Amino acid sequence: MSSNKKLFIQTLGCQMNDTDSQHIVAELEKHKDYSQTDVMEDADLIIINTCSVREKPVQKLFSEIGQFNKKKKDGAKIGVCGCTASHLGKDIIKRAPYVDFVVGARNISKIKDVVDIKGSVEISIDNDDSMYEFATAKTNKYRASVNISVGCDKKCTYCIVPSTRGEELSIPVEMIVDQVQKSVNQGAVEVMLLGQNVNSYGRRFSDGREKSTFTKLLQEVSKVEGLERIRFTSPHPLHMDDEFIEEFAKNKKISRCIHMPLQSGSTSILKAMKRGYTKEWFLNRTAKIRSLVPDLRITTDIIVAFPGETEADYQDTLDVVREAKFDQIFNFKYSPRPGTEALKMEDLAVPDKIGSARLIELIELHKRHLEAIMPTYVGQTFSVLVESLKPNGEVCGFTDNYLQVFAKGSDELLGKFVNVKITDNSRTSLKGEIVQ
Ligand code: 5AD
Ligand code: SF4
Repeated sequence: MSSNKKLFIQTLGCQMNDTDSQHIVAELEKHKDYSQTDVMEDADLIIINTCSVREKPVQKLFSEIGQFNKKKKDGAKIGVCGCTASHLGKDIIKRAPYVDFVVGARNISKIKDVVDIKGSVEISIDNDDSMYEFATAKTNKYRASVNISVGCDKKCTYCIVPSTRGEELSIPVEMIVDQVQKSVNQGAVEVMLLGQNVNSYGRRFSDGREKSTFTKLLQEVSKVEGLERIRFTSPHPLHMDDEFIEEFAKNKKISRCIHMPLQSGSTSILKAMKRGYTKEWFLNRTAKIRSLVPDLRITTDIIVAFPGETEADYQDTLDVVREAKFDQIFNFKYSPRPGTEALKMEDLAVPDKIGSARLIELIELHKRHLEAIMPTYVGQTFSVLVESLKPNGEVCGFTDNYLQVFAKGSDELLGKFVNVKITDNSRTSLKGEIVQ
């Protein structure tokens, strides 16, 4: 059905936010007759779906909505959704009175109820069954994202998520499997399972049913016929038990790339962060999983300059980086967040100059690692799932261990697996030729 009302949505932040945006679009298309546009100036409704995990996105939010307000067409509405909406609530409307409504990350399915009510603010983090409505929209035809849980029960002392997304609840396995099957029926080959802490899947369901585990969920999802590749984020190193690692190693549908957020390599900083594991445990987990999955790639998140981080603590982080040989690192400088425990540790704050220097050194160390490892792929042949065709006639896709590969090709290859012999590399991607 075509509609006259146009929706423009901008997403800041993590993959969870991307899925929430798909959910918002799906809800507004289904119930409110909107259709999506890429041109903000054409939109009748402008939504910004935000992230508040670090401070920068919050500043970005206010500068972006200011710009939207200047350039929007007459009478267009502006809504703010997501984590920043959860934690700033009605202060957003106080600071930017042209904002029409505010919907928190836990309340996305209320979007259809508030979109027409000027000044409404929905940010409760109490449980609500409507979370079970999955989005039907997809950003990539061959890849679907499916939420497996909402919220987070951990209390990492730097993290704002538990206060914006509420307590953790798992979505029933049959609903997830059904959603994966639906996505596959619509052409998806790969699924990304999403939760703040996927390894704690199954500890609590909203209908009070018996507990389950992430390992069992992986086994069920992998039975979906036509589904070729399973990815997930984020696991928690503390809960990566042997059973999970063994399933990861033997289940051929699971992508050979895993995200293991280290945060810090220092046992005492990990304790102050309430991460629940030690430097040794983390290294034990990476060693175990690498020993079972030889072509594994590991990605990680690291925070430098957490309050109280000494030079020796920081050196522990560098030690782990050297030993775990991460294939990709998302580096962050600690950013104090409202309502978190770490906020009370201000007297231990690391001077900004030191934080910046640590960040730069870490990035340089990782660059050198990539410069050493990426050329070793040249000459090898990989199976690549082709996802897109570039204007220059190259197709782009990912290997099983999630290396990005470019090769000359055509649109007939989209959604298919092809063998690519690697001929060249950069620090972050590979180039090659399609071979039989
Ligand atoms: N400061 C800096 N980085 C943070 N992250 C979460 N909270 C903070 C914070 N207060 C990082 C963590 C997390 C990633 C999503 O963002 O590394 O894994
Ligand atoms: Fe935040 Fe820790 Fe939960 Fe991740 S596990 S969302 S870092 S509280």
